[in-house]
Amino acid sequence: MRKIYVIGIGAGDPDHLTLQAVKALNEVDVFFLFDKGTEKSDLIRLRHEILERHATGRAYRLVEARDPERDRDRAADGVAYAGAVDDWRSRRAEIYARMITDELGDGTSEDADGNGSVGAFLVWGDPSLYDSTLAILEEILERGTVRFEYEVIPGISSVSALAAKHRIGLNRVARPVQITTGRRLAEGWPQDADDVVVMLDAHQSFRHHLADDPVIYWGAYVGTEDEILVSGRLSEVAGRIEELRAEARARKGWIMDTYLLRRD
Ligand SMILES: C[S@@+](CC[C@H](N)C(=O)[O-])C[C@H]1O[C@@H](n2cnc3c(N)ncnc32)[C@H](O)[C@@H]1O
Repeated sequence: MRKIYVIGIGAGDPDHLTLQAVKALNEVDVFFLFDKGTEKSDLIRLRHEILERHATGRAYRLVEARDPERDRDRAADGVAYAGAVDDWRSRRAEIYARMITDELGDGTSEDADGNGSVGAFLVWGDPSLYDSTLAILEEILERGTVRFEYEVIPGISSVSALAAKHRIGLNRVARPVQITTGRRLAEGWPQDADDVVVMLDAHQSFRHHLADDPVIYWGAYVGTEDEILVSGRLSEVAGRIEELRAEARARKGWIMDTYLLRRD
């Protein structure tokens, strides 16, 4: 039986890797890596660095593929956005299924059997948070064209890394915290939570909530050498965050930022 590890590798600091992840890395025959285009080559570089440093226990192969492009023009409203993500996920599922079939042996396929039967996907942060790898593997299993078992190794998420860097808890005593996207925050402040973590925000959606004037704990490239952290009352720091964000994005060609908004 083929086996797949889905390994959370942390949010950018090579030291985020857990001992459990290192153990799993050393059982893998084939690592599947995805290139999202040159602008995010830093993210690929971290994966290579992790493998060079920690996957030292046995010979492995790297199988690299280009990530399918997502249809960004269909992102105008929520329904179109969800449709675009579904399409993209299905195209990704096809690529994953082909790689698993061709590159991992299962004791029956002559072509792949010399390759070893253990594969791995290295997932940014933690696989449970805004990542499609698990859903894609489930989709492949449902299609039934290739069989495998899989195991998930948790990683340090960008949210944990952000909270640690600001030395804050995410929730206040006995209160809820909500994790959401920039897209949703732009539509309104979530009900039932005064503490809101925002991810995947390309448009600085915190600007929609200046009137509430929450405290913001913001971080970009958290855990990497480019890390930027800012905290304070939104009315006082929003402008600086926008400037820093624009400057960093122009310099590096991409940005990943996350923040907690804490309303009184
Ligand atoms: C597709 S999600 C993946 C999240 C990932 N699975 C995790 O556990 O952090 C990408 C979003 O995560 C956040 N993110 C990931 N790495 C980050 C980092 N090093 N610093 C700040 N935000 C980060 C950003 O909000 C980015 O838009």
